[in-house]
Amino acid sequence: MLTCVRGLLAALAFWMALPASAQPSSLLPVPSSMRLADGRLTIDSTTRFEIAGFADARLRRAVERAQSRLAQRISQPVTGAARDTARVPAARAITIDVAGAGMTVQGIEEVEGYSLVITSQGATLRSATVVGALRGLETMLQLVEGDGGSFFLPSLEIHDAPRFPWRGLLVDVSRHFMPLEQLKRTLDGMALVKLNVFHWHLSDDQGFRVESRRFPLLHQRGSDGLFYTQAQVREIVAYARDRGIRVVPEFDMPGHTTAWFVGYPQYATKAPPIAIRREWGGADAIFDPTREETYTFIAQFIAEMVPLFPDPYWHIGGDEVEAKHWDGNARIVAWRTRHGYKDNAALQAHFNRRLSAILVRHGKRMIGWDEILHPDLPAKTVVQSWRGVQYLANSARQGFAALLSAPWYLDYMKPASDYYTVDPVPQFDELTPAQRALVLGGEACMWAEFVSDETAESRIWPRLGAVAERLWSPREVTDVAEMYRRLDILADRLEGMGVRVGSHSARLLARIAPGVETAPIESLFTAVQPPRFGQATNGRSTNQLHPLTRLVDAARPDPAGRWMIERLVRRLALDPQDVAARDSLLVVFERWSLLLPRVEALAATSPTLAEALPVARALARTAVIGTEAVGFVTAGRVAPADWARAAAEELRRYEAPQGTLRVAIVADVRKLLAMASAQPATSDGR
Ligand code: ACM
Repeated sequence: MLTCVRGLLAALAFWMALPASAQPSSLLPVPSSMRLADGRLTIDSTTRFEIAGFADARLRRAVERAQSRLAQRISQPVTGAARDTARVPAARAITIDVAGAGMTVQGIEEVEGYSLVITSQGATLRSATVVGALRGLETMLQLVEGDGGSFFLPSLEIHDAPRFPWRGLLVDVSRHFMPLEQLKRTLDGMALVKLNVFHWHLSDDQGFRVESRRFPLLHQRGSDGLFYTQAQVREIVAYARDRGIRVVPEFDMPGHTTAWFVGYPQYATKAPPIAIRREWGGADAIFDPTREETYTFIAQFIAEMVPLFPDPYWHIGGDEVEAKHWDGNARIVAWRTRHGYKDNAALQAHFNRRLSAILVRHGKRMIGWDEILHPDLPAKTVVQSWRGVQYLANSARQGFAALLSAPWYLDYMKPASDYYTVDPVPQFDELTPAQRALVLGGEACMWAEFVSDETAESRIWPRLGAVAERLWSPREVTDVAEMYRRLDILADRLEGMGVRVGSHSARLLARIAPGVETAPIESLFTAVQPPRFGQATNGRSTNQLHPLTRLVDAARPDPAGRWMIERLVRRLALDPQDVAARDSLLVVFERWSLLLPRVEALAATSPTLAEALPVARALARTAVIGTEAVGFVTAGRVAPADWARAAAEELRRYEAPQGTLRVAIVADVRKLLAMASAQPATSDGR
């Protein structure tokens, strides 16, 4: 798919007049400090990796993986397997010099910094811990370049450490199950961009995903047979640890718990039968917080799970507790009144205190979504903000450690630039330094109502790279154009490692239309995208039993054409006489408008392909309006008012999904229209 996008974009390279800069750095995330020097270290089959300091099995495995990835990158064997060497390193070696193992169980205090010095004589990676070395190895692999003659690492000096200690990704495996191999690919990608927390959302209304030996009906009745065995959980935790990634489990409660009660209805607010919930949103039952048996059950369950998850933190969910389930149960209401809890928030705080006490017995610190914020919350609780950034500040002001997720919901299908331009701290400048220090970092969230194991990676990547950089790099690193340039490279790196960033499109299209030439659809995918979360789904499947194998699933968020148009429009706004920008816009608009007859031909072959018709029509019309607007702007003419009004009206319609997909470039064409409708553009064109 990338190649396909590239095809369209490469054809435009001439018109785009891209700056032919000398290989700017492709590092993502940007390191805290980097100084380039003259010279280079040639990399070939004689390059050796040497472990010069502390070594353990984790470090050796990491070096072997790096060696293997380097060999694949340069298409030559890299010999001299990693081993301990006290002797002076060989010439042109990549020397790894680590002081010690780091924490036995990785925590937020883990030292992740490293330094990397590369000269023509060799490279030296130094770190206090193995995790620091893992981060440095990823940097080193990203630095490999080539010219006509050889591969090399540029001479430089990097000193790097993360801005925030908590840099995570939540993956929801309840709404759609994600197999082990996919989770491993995701962990590989996370390691590549230096993320360090895998937040595993393991239970919800639509599925309970871990084997419980103590309460086997949880996974037997609550998962459709799609769950992780305890051995598999251990495997993922070990795989993550090998990559310097903590695994924080979430068992969401007291709401989002329908799937628990298929096997154990006695702890629910409602009498059986209770089935796995197939619809999105809303629970069929939640935990009854008034019965002692509920806490005994939860305590025994947690006691069974604790050995699987060594991380010091434990996520209890706590979001979207539907009070109607408590209010609708006379016994619960009577208990609440008898015990003096004035409302359901107080009742949930009671539940949370009980949970916290259970977790504290196991040495765990409790995390919950921002609904748990309540004066009665135990002091060590961590609050994760999802309903709005203000909850981060509210939590910190009340003295709770806090994580930001609200702006980083990947299922909202926003462009990478939106994720990138959020900063967890500056908007709360009224916070004291001590309160600011309570912001541990944040997590992007991949909720899985509308993604399957086949498509999740294409929604996670490459946009997660933008969040990873925000959480790792200095706050001054904010150049969006630079980010998009490196995000493209990241997408290729990930795809090259086996992560399915864009390749899902070809696979889904092959299944949707075997033997059909679907290039027009792939071209369409450069400018259309899935709807935003909450937008009209127009007949798209909205429950767990529908296969996610339609065109909307084959499409991708933030398609390449959107950023291209945004950039070109910005150039035209600055200079209406920018001929290269004008010509590029006209070429792309023409290509998109010419897709329509080709899509119409395909639509005649399959109802699934016919789903492309409304959005192909809308894209063609958007492109025509764009073409006309460019004409007015570059001719210095004001567009006739009637035309402008009609065009604006039409574009407004295209902001909504057309069928199951939406046009991604409408906002930028509206900017062109505004430029065309204004006075003759003599200054900045706006
Ligand atoms: C959430 O999105 N309900 C945490």
